[in-house]
Amino acid sequence: MVNTIVIGMQWGDESKGKLVDILSGTHDVVVRYQGGGNAGHTVVVGDKKYAFRLIPSGIISRKLCVIGNCVAVDPAGLIKEIDELKEKGVEVDPGNFVISNLANLTTSYQRKLDSIIGARVGTTGRGIGPTYSDKSARSGLLVNDLFDVNKLETQVRENTRIANHTLGFYNAESLDASDVLDELLKTREQILSFVSKDIQGLILRNNGKLLFEGAQGTLLDKDLGTYPFVTSSNTTIGAAYIGAGARIDFHRTIGVLKAYTTRVGNGPFPTEQDNEIGDRLREIGGEFGTVTNRPRRCGWLDLFAADYAVRVNGITEVSLAKLDVLDDEDEIKVCTGYSLGEKKLDYFPVLDLNKCIPLYETLPGWKTDTSNCRKLQDMPNNARKYVERIKEYLGVPITTVGVGKRRDQMIYCY
Ligand code: GDP
Ligand code: IMO
Ligand code: MG
Repeated sequence: MVNTIVIGMQWGDESKGKLVDILSGTHDVVVRYQGGGNAGHTVVVGDKKYAFRLIPSGIISRKLCVIGNCVAVDPAGLIKEIDELKEKGVEVDPGNFVISNLANLTTSYQRKLDSIIGARVGTTGRGIGPTYSDKSARSGLLVNDLFDVNKLETQVRENTRIANHTLGFYNAESLDASDVLDELLKTREQILSFVSKDIQGLILRNNGKLLFEGAQGTLLDKDLGTYPFVTSSNTTIGAAYIGAGARIDFHRTIGVLKAYTTRVGNGPFPTEQDNEIGDRLREIGGEFGTVTNRPRRCGWLDLFAADYAVRVNGITEVSLAKLDVLDDEDEIKVCTGYSLGEKKLDYFPVLDLNKCIPLYETLPGWKTDTSNCRKLQDMPNNARKYVERIKEYLGVPITTVGVGKRRDQMIYCY
């Protein structure tokens, strides 16, 4: 009987999808509880590569996959994702995929607004910000509104009229409400076939067999991250209870930590290496966005920030990812604190990162290919020391170490 949650400890793309795919084997139900099609989780099994945006990675193992209450669901994007999975031999049907009627609907006007208003933050353009703005303003559409076409039409016309005012302000072309509505109506029946009005019951019936798949990362949390350069949902553990509609006890809270750091979009990034080191990490790590294909900004591991993520989420174990990407480095830096002005900080200054200077510790590289290691004992001494230093700093056990994209390229440290 184990409920597990997987949470990103950095700015997203830590390798959550790979871990969720692996853990799906030992859980019955996999739940996405926040965010939307802004997520991009790549999973490689054998010679097949799957790119997930909204559907939990557990679908590969044919587990029951659930889209929870606070998720932003773009029906057009979702149906495309279902079709792409079908082409790869993965069937998504009402028997293995369920959407909460309390989830939010994202439509074309929200995508269009995001492509304009989101530029300052460098969003994924998936309509996430405007979807959650509408929700907070209580004018948003919910998946439940698909049941009532008349209400849907009235609200779509009203919301598109308001959106057109904003688009006009930015000198952007306005939208035809009928087009916005048509897009929703085209997919309405298929989406409704997945909808449940009792996600809470489903989740509680499966208590003890639940796997929660976080999207984005702790530092992108709209309230606890590097605001305003964040996403528009809560990415940290609190969101899981709302997404489920129930207070779940998690026996394992796994934080996924990449062995270095990446960030997509704008915002402060103290350990960024905007130089040949960052270029090398990007090249070797294949650091290009799954959703937008943008090059990811790359830098050294920030343990001071990771420690913040441990405390925010109550992380009980760390899954260290992509260690193999550091195989060629002569020496590797890790940030163990920040100074701000004259002072070394004793708290994580989440809103002042742009003013902080990272303080580094330098560790020796191992200059050995680790991609075939399957046990800690197989790893070169300096790689083991790197893992050990992270564990010691965070005070949390490291239970897996990723050494490649594939499912089998994982070291289990227990
Ligand atoms: P997520 O958003 O947290 O699920 O992470 P992404 O899938 O966006 O980004 C992780 C990328 O690294 C994907 O392309 C994975 O296939 C790849 N990956 C995952 N784990 C490892 C690893 O241990 N080593 C290497 N080299 N690549 C990995
Ligand atoms: P996964 O689940 C990395 C970033 C965007 C942008 C900011 C706001 O794959 O880890 P949004 O479209 O959410 O309004 O964009 O957040 N972002 C991500 N970065 N991984 C993600 O998801 C992300 N989802 C959003 O690049 O900076
Ligand atoms: Mg990703």
